[in-house]
Amino acid sequence: MGEKLYFLETDEDHQDLKEMVKDMDCTFLSGVLTEDEIIENCKDATILSTFIYSPVTKKVIDNLPRLKLVATRATGFDNIDIQHAKKKGIVVSNVPAYGFNTVAEHGFGLLLNLLRNITRAQAHLRETGKFFYKGFKGRDLKDKTLGIIGTGRIGLNMARIGKGFGMKVIAYDIILNHQAAKEIGYQYKSLDEVLAESDVISLHVPLLPSTYHLINEERLKKMKKGAILINTARGGLVDTDALLKAIDQGHLGGAGLDVVENETSLSSNHPLLNRDNVIVTPHIAFYTTEAMNRIARTTVENIHAFLRGEPQNVVNK
Ligand code: NAI
Repeated sequence: MGEKLYFLETDEDHQDLKEMVKDMDCTFLSGVLTEDEIIENCKDATILSTFIYSPVTKKVIDNLPRLKLVATRATGFDNIDIQHAKKKGIVVSNVPAYGFNTVAEHGFGLLLNLLRNITRAQAHLRETGKFFYKGFKGRDLKDKTLGIIGTGRIGLNMARIGKGFGMKVIAYDIILNHQAAKEIGYQYKSLDEVLAESDVISLHVPLLPSTYHLINEERLKKMKKGAILINTARGGLVDTDALLKAIDQGHLGGAGLDVVENETSLSSNHPLLNRDNVIVTPHIAFYTTEAMNRIARTTVENIHAFLRGEPQNVVNK
């Protein structure tokens, strides 16, 4: 039996990808499948291509006997049990580099929208037809301090864009990239200092046991009064209850979130969706025409490299 590929979370938006693998034995499945549905539908999979939500857990791995490669089309892989995969000799590859500008651009979109009341002003204009500025006074970015938490690929792009807006940029990471700091012109500080000194904090670390609820009640209290929190990384980095408390008590000035804890089951009456100074987008930071094409290309390259015996972008070495 030859290779059998399953692509989860795919739809009509994945024409580029479908075209690139048209010579292989592929099945495309839409929507987010549960563990049991993945096991049921992908029994003979040798290669499973997942995305941000599909749970590739120990149970899934143990029940797909032919599985050799999990090729996620995302950067983050917190939905995959990479250690268990490794134990079973299954390679997990990701797409590390499709959207470092794409995600950072969206981060700034959220930030500008919050600071300049764009969505709120448009909704008001649509509702009333009143073309008038009152009630929508914004705030400048220039000369404000941007605190980047996680100076990886996306964080560095965020820093570059921040510098373009004339912001002072400071950063925290467990690994210091002195060359980037010099080139871009930002300064590393401790986490407490970044929290205390920033007008805007933007999160760009992966979700790991060590980063779960990195932004909790205690750390929110350390943030400047009126500061803005931007999260385009993973929902689990922020304790939602603590965030709501900080917003409602007026300590935080606002939040721009592309990711939220338990985001797939967020209800329309969730308090985060009902605050004037919180803007939430449904995990769209990666989602541009250009990024989708780069994702498809890298995933297919990862699959070909694996089949040649030269796996690349492996996250569970
Ligand atoms: P990256 O791997 O290039 O950078 C992550 C940085 O976080 C590294 O510099 C690392 O040293 C640092 N880090 C790790 N643990 C840390 C800790 N405990 N404290 C401080 N720093 C720590 O990752 P990249 O490409 O910049 O992506 C960041 C995250 O953005 C991804 O893990 C992913 O979850 C998320 N993402 C979200 C997307 C969206 O559509 N909203 C799209 C793509 C990525």
